[in-house]
Amino acid sequence: MAGSDTVRIVESCGRLEGEVVPPGDKSISHRAAILNSVAKGEAEIRNFAPGADCLSTVRCLRALGVKIVRKNWDESPALLVSGRGGGSLLEPGNVLDAGNSGTTMRLLGGLLASQPFLSVITGDASLRRRPMGRLIEPLRLMGAEVWGRGQDSFAPLVIRGKRELWGIDFALPVASAQIKSAILLAGLFARGKTVLHEPAPSRDHTERMLRLMGASLEIRPGSISLQPLDRPLAALSLRVPGDISSAAYFLVAGAIHPNARIVIRGCGINPTRTGIIDALVAMGGRIRMDNQREEGGEPVADIVVESSQLQGVEISGSIVPRLIDEIPVLAVAGCVARGKTVVRDAAELRVKESDRIATVVSELSRLGAKIEALPDGMIIYGGCTLSGAEVDSHFDHRLAMTLAVAGLMAEGKTTINNAHVARISYPAFWQALSSLTDREPE
Ligand code: S3P
Repeated sequence: MAGSDTVRIVESCGRLEGEVVPPGDKSISHRAAILNSVAKGEAEIRNFAPGADCLSTVRCLRALGVKIVRKNWDESPALLVSGRGGGSLLEPGNVLDAGNSGTTMRLLGGLLASQPFLSVITGDASLRRRPMGRLIEPLRLMGAEVWGRGQDSFAPLVIRGKRELWGIDFALPVASAQIKSAILLAGLFARGKTVLHEPAPSRDHTERMLRLMGASLEIRPGSISLQPLDRPLAALSLRVPGDISSAAYFLVAGAIHPNARIVIRGCGINPTRTGIIDALVAMGGRIRMDNQREEGGEPVADIVVESSQLQGVEISGSIVPRLIDEIPVLAVAGCVARGKTVVRDAAELRVKESDRIATVVSELSRLGAKIEALPDGMIIYGGCTLSGAEVDSHFDHRLAMTLAVAGLMAEGKTTINNAHVARISYPAFWQALSSLTDREPE
């Protein structure tokens, strides 16, 4: 692998072998920082996700008066968070900037609706194109005062928070953990209970953490019911498990490379996140989970993946929210597998950091993939030989890393433009990749 920070050149390699320690889980890190900010006491969050997205959350929380100290950042990142306990956050002196992070904007949106001051939250060009009506609508049903650009559809959001919210009984129109979590955060400080119905299970990190911090939640298949807090959340120190969404690039690379064995250490295997493992195993992937244990209320394992003969599959229905962020890299597996891979029920991909149906189809096509877009997914014709070409991340971190995996399987050189955006979720991705290949970075 060669190139500069923004342009990376990836080539095939004879063998892919070694160990990867993925960064701390991004979803869990956001939640640990946010929930501990309103908890009582001090918390140490070890293995905090070092990517730019979670730093956006930290920046916003500091602007809201939360004392957060970074520790040991270059070796093993940790945060010390001094919760504001029963007291409220402080009115920020300026606009809050969520950067590229949908989780920051939506989770803080829910929390700020309950805080008795005015806040404005914005983000980068990609985040300002993403749908926020789905957040504003349920918060307004709770009595919140929230407005957005484009007739309450987009950020910047203006939030006049207040203490007098009330709980709602609400059916989420999409299986979105961000919206679910935002409503739960508002519900913590509302009057009366909040009941949510999900069309399919989405990641449940908020629910797990809230319980560990003393909130009263009842979880039934398809619904969650939360009682408002009668005392502050208790600070929760934890070690964040490795991020399966970051590990996914190596899970796919290991399975599709003809001469590979990769060990992924300390990876989160929460069942609401392991759709990628289930899909690869269904395709014939040789994947084993060793040393299963629990960290921070979440299941963790060391995962071993080896070269496999993959067969195309259909990905649709309730597995989709369990692998939504991994569909781009799964499409690379589909290119190499025998037969056809069909992805359906995944229209949510169109409103991620990029329109991931359009960008995956356009960039993998440049490498010679036979892939067609559907309104809610894609069809990938397998058995394809990819050839190196110039491609672009469209400033989408998951696409940059997906294209690196595709480049490993392509003949010749693959030049990835705007590759630096991998740092949104995985700053050490390029080093991790080159540690597995037999080429040294130039
Ligand atoms: C996330 C939820 C998912 C996911 C995103 C992180 C979270 O988004 O795509 O990367 O941390 O809650 P949606 O809730 O919009 O589906």
